[in-house]
Amino acid sequence: MALIFDYADTLTSRSVSLTFVKGLILSGGAGTRLRPITHTSAKQLVPIANKPILFYGIEGLVEAGITDIGIVVGETGDEVRQAVGDGSRWGAEITYLSQDKPLGLAHCVLIAQDFLGVDDFVMYLGDNMLEQDLTELVDRFIVDRAASSLDCRVLLKKVANPSSFGVAVVNADGVVTDLVEKPENPPSDLALVGVYFFSSVIHDAVASIKPSPRGELEITDAIAWLSGQGLMVDHDMLDGWWIDTGKKDPLLECNRLVLGTIETQTDVSTTVDESSLIAGAVQIGARCTITNSVITGPVVIGENVVIDNCQIGPYVSLGDNCVLSDAVLDDSVLLKNCLINGGGRVTSSLLGRSSSVSGTSSSGTSSLMLGDDSIVELH
Ligand code: G1P
Repeated sequence: MALIFDYADTLTSRSVSLTFVKGLILSGGAGTRLRPITHTSAKQLVPIANKPILFYGIEGLVEAGITDIGIVVGETGDEVRQAVGDGSRWGAEITYLSQDKPLGLAHCVLIAQDFLGVDDFVMYLGDNMLEQDLTELVDRFIVDRAASSLDCRVLLKKVANPSSFGVAVVNADGVVTDLVEKPENPPSDLALVGVYFFSSVIHDAVASIKPSPRGELEITDAIAWLSGQGLMVDHDMLDGWWIDTGKKDPLLECNRLVLGTIETQTDVSTTVDESSLIAGAVQIGARCTITNSVITGPVVIGENVVIDNCQIGPYVSLGDNCVLSDAVLDDSVLLKNCLINGGGRVTSSLLGRSSSVSGTSSSGTSSLMLGDDSIVELH
């Protein structure tokens, strides 16, 4: 016990900066659960309501006052760099940190150590989407850090399938007493949401743990290590929805939730002919042409999109330059440059860039998950 106390004392003296909080967004990983899209594109850049998932995380941190942001990138680093840039468009300064192999979330902290220094930080998994603003959560962490010996705060949400997540056990005082990654027999139904608040003691934890059975350095194990050292780990409960967008169905659910918040807006350069009907919340970008079609919101349409003789919506996001004719499409995300010509009813679908669908399926309804440049002829 005395040993643990001494250790905690040493660490506390290192945690000098209590008010300066950095951001660390994890945007590496192979994205295997979103293949084939992720063969050619980063999972964090798949758009929700026509905005890359990663941008929501950056915007959330910036709104919470965090502008010094490190982004950990892997194989898809070039694409992420190109999409995000230096962060100036958000008033942020972005530092890219390369991870050679996807060796786990705690490994990301390990390689970000020079960037993070002794500062507190918020770690945000780049494929997670939250309804709740981060501002209140960040403010509460800063205040509680200054007023107590808090070293780590996790964000928790009750879920029906805890075995799919990291799971925490919390005592009556709100202290986290145990954490397990994807347990077969979950000790609680409280899942770790992909947002974590750390002091610099986490650097000692990530350097002390061993890889898990899946061969990764788990952040869950690092936090369990902190708790095991007698350091203070507590929690906040997340309000509102939370989606780990790493698979098609949750991604489409997220698209529905975000589309549910949009307002109607049509760019002046767009033309909608008199035989078309636009109902509900529909956003239409510049230079689109819509003829003889019914668009039922919520729907977001990018720029330079052509829609002829179609029924679109509800819950559809169409990227720039899509061309749709004789299509019936709902509950779907189409990346840019897609083409649908006929195809019967296309629903619950995610179409990669420049994919093309034509013909008609025998059942009349298709649900598709297509990588970039796919060509599908339905019979
Ligand atoms: C990761 C974490 C897990 C957490 C989840 C949240 O899981 O390891 O503890 O609950 O993110 O999205 P992964 O997406 O790596 O399976």
